[in-house]
Amino acid sequence: MKDIHLLDLINGASGALDYVSSTVTGHHRRVGVGAVAVGGAMGLGLRDTTDLLNASLLHDIGAFSLDLRLDGLDFDTDHTDHARAGYRLLKLHPILDRVAELVLLHHTPWRRLPAYRDPMVPLLANIVNLVDRVDVLNHKGPRRIDRQRIRETIRANAGAIFAPEAVTAFLDLSASAAFWDRMSAPWDHVREGIDTPLADDVIPHDQLIQFSRFFSLIIDFRSRHTATHSQGVAETAATLARLTGMTGQDQERIRLAANLHDIGKLAVPVVLLDKPSTLTPDEFATVRHHASVCETILHTVPGLEDIADWASQHHERTDGSGYPRGLSRDQLSLGSRVMGVADVFTAITEDRPYRQGMTPAQSTAVLRDMARTGSLDADLVTLLLDNFKTMAEVRHAVQEAALARFEQFRAA
Ligand SMILES: [Fe+2]
Ligand SMILES: [Fe+2]
Ligand SMILES: [Fe+2]
Repeated sequence: MKDIHLLDLINGASGALDYVSSTVTGHHRRVGVGAVAVGGAMGLGLRDTTDLLNASLLHDIGAFSLDLRLDGLDFDTDHTDHARAGYRLLKLHPILDRVAELVLLHHTPWRRLPAYRDPMVPLLANIVNLVDRVDVLNHKGPRRIDRQRIRETIRANAGAIFAPEAVTAFLDLSASAAFWDRMSAPWDHVREGIDTPLADDVIPHDQLIQFSRFFSLIIDFRSRHTATHSQGVAETAATLARLTGMTGQDQERIRLAANLHDIGKLAVPVVLLDKPSTLTPDEFATVRHHASVCETILHTVPGLEDIADWASQHHERTDGSGYPRGLSRDQLSLGSRVMGVADVFTAITEDRPYRQGMTPAQSTAVLRDMARTGSLDADLVTLLLDNFKTMAEVRHAVQEAALARFEQFRAA
């Protein structure tokens, strides 16, 4: 398996956040590019610059799990809530430990920042705070103010809200149009907007799964109906992969794909995800769009190519009737077909707040029917039905555990 670079994955994640609301589109990358420029003018070292960038790219991630209204960029009323939620999400991953601290402090005024054992933490967090403010003021729709006034606002808050040395660096840079141009260019990958050297962090393979679990939390937490869906699909897909004789490594890769398979749902408004009645054709089209969004997001991460295909093809059907591409059996790899079966099996058997999961007899009938019409891979369905009890137990156990974690997270 190829190396996955942390920055590529975080860049992909920040791209995924962009889909949640058109007002936030590009915000994280702009803050990233701007913060690295300010940090560069302050002479930051490699580690500090890289952590600063990673924190900038993820700084508002907590707002997405809290489902705050995302039609403005500054979430005025919930500064501490979304910073804390982001901290708790990122803290789940050891590789993001320091980044989590920066996110926690990204709205704390400079004079109220506590002393840290790691003295750079408050300063780096404050750079995110400053550049975030700049981007918000620069994109506030009708309330947007011009660059000169943004500079004056930042200057006026030096020492109180912003670190004096960060303000000095920002004022130097922002005197030239180049800073603003660079910050507002629609970079596909944040790396293109940066000419400062960065640490090249690679995610160890044994931590990739944990990393993808972290995404599945963000995806699932948005909708109360799907708090545990991704994890149910991951466990059943990996079990099915094992039954087909796929290698241990491929089973893990399937698990990774399953954790990410609904990442495109970030692009679907929660009202649609949670809608109890039937969707209109337009609404259905919006929901279906999540599969191509998944493809777009995951294909930006070098090293995840196969996984991106498996994940984004979970709604393809072997008879060609699926989406997003209408691929048919001979165009779908085993991994994609496994994902399709595991997704349907999990969806129909899991309980949701508004309905009970199907009984074994009902779900068996549905799966048989889908195999018969050629919608799902018939061999895989037979394999699943031959092992129905194991599959059902595996799914149930993992989703119970996931639900407990979800409730713990919400309660904290
Ligand atoms: Fe924020
Ligand atoms: Fe922000
Ligand atoms: Fe889906």
